[in-house]
Amino acid sequence: MRKQIAAANWKMNLSIEQAETLMTDLLASPIELTENQQAVFGVPFPYLININQKIAGKQHFSLAAQNCSNKVSGAYTGEVSVEMLKSIGVPYVIIGHSERREYFNETNALLAEKVNICFEYGLLPIFCCGEALQIREAGTQNSYVENQLKESLFHLTGESLRGFVIAYEPIWAIGTGKTASSEQAQEMHAHIRNVMAEQFGKEIADSISILYGGSVKAANAKEIFGQTDVDGGLVGGASLVAAEFSAIINSLKK
Ligand code: PGA
Repeated sequence: MRKQIAAANWKMNLSIEQAETLMTDLLASPIELTENQQAVFGVPFPYLININQKIAGKQHFSLAAQNCSNKVSGAYTGEVSVEMLKSIGVPYVIIGHSERREYFNETNALLAEKVNICFEYGLLPIFCCGEALQIREAGTQNSYVENQLKESLFHLTGESLRGFVIAYEPIWAIGTGKTASSEQAQEMHAHIRNVMAEQFGKEIADSISILYGGSVKAANAKEIFGQTDVDGGLVGGASLVAAEFSAIINSLKK
């Protein structure tokens, strides 16, 4: 069975004290993870080393950066390279979150470069895609998301995408409290898997974990994660509350 993942996206929240308290509370919560399940913590850059120490030795707990540079190194003030992340033991990087696309003008072409550089240095991208409200209202979400995948991933080989992680996050559901229905999530996840299967073959597509993101909380996680093509979630707001996120982790499919 492909990997089931509950990934926290703390975004630009919490002081270091708050972050450490949250992790202490979370690690004290009853969490059960089986062999194919993982809890991933997408924390701000300055906390990566601390949180990595907190989860050290905890099986099935892992760490993600929320972004990385598309450049290897050099005169790029304020940027963080994949090599730096690799050197401090960060395995995952969230790539192309809609907030990066919208506020920092990250295009599909730039995200292709970021995915390339992650692969080059052995980091695992959590590749985000998803449509805005007006696209959903126009009914063109399938082709929109397909194009995001095409322009950022289709240059890769199928083999390199074995076990890849995609997060589908409809922008209209992020931080709004308005979740996609489990049917809407399943429909888009099945579409994404089909698109990947057409390009890379069914076996590769079946190995890809497709996470849902957008107002996931303890109360709706089980139903959403229970859908055939939903392999967990990327969670913003609710990942900042230990009781919520531990319940979300425990809602992963077994
Ligand atoms: P949300 O954010 O859970 O607060 O809606 C999800 C995300 O942006 O990754």
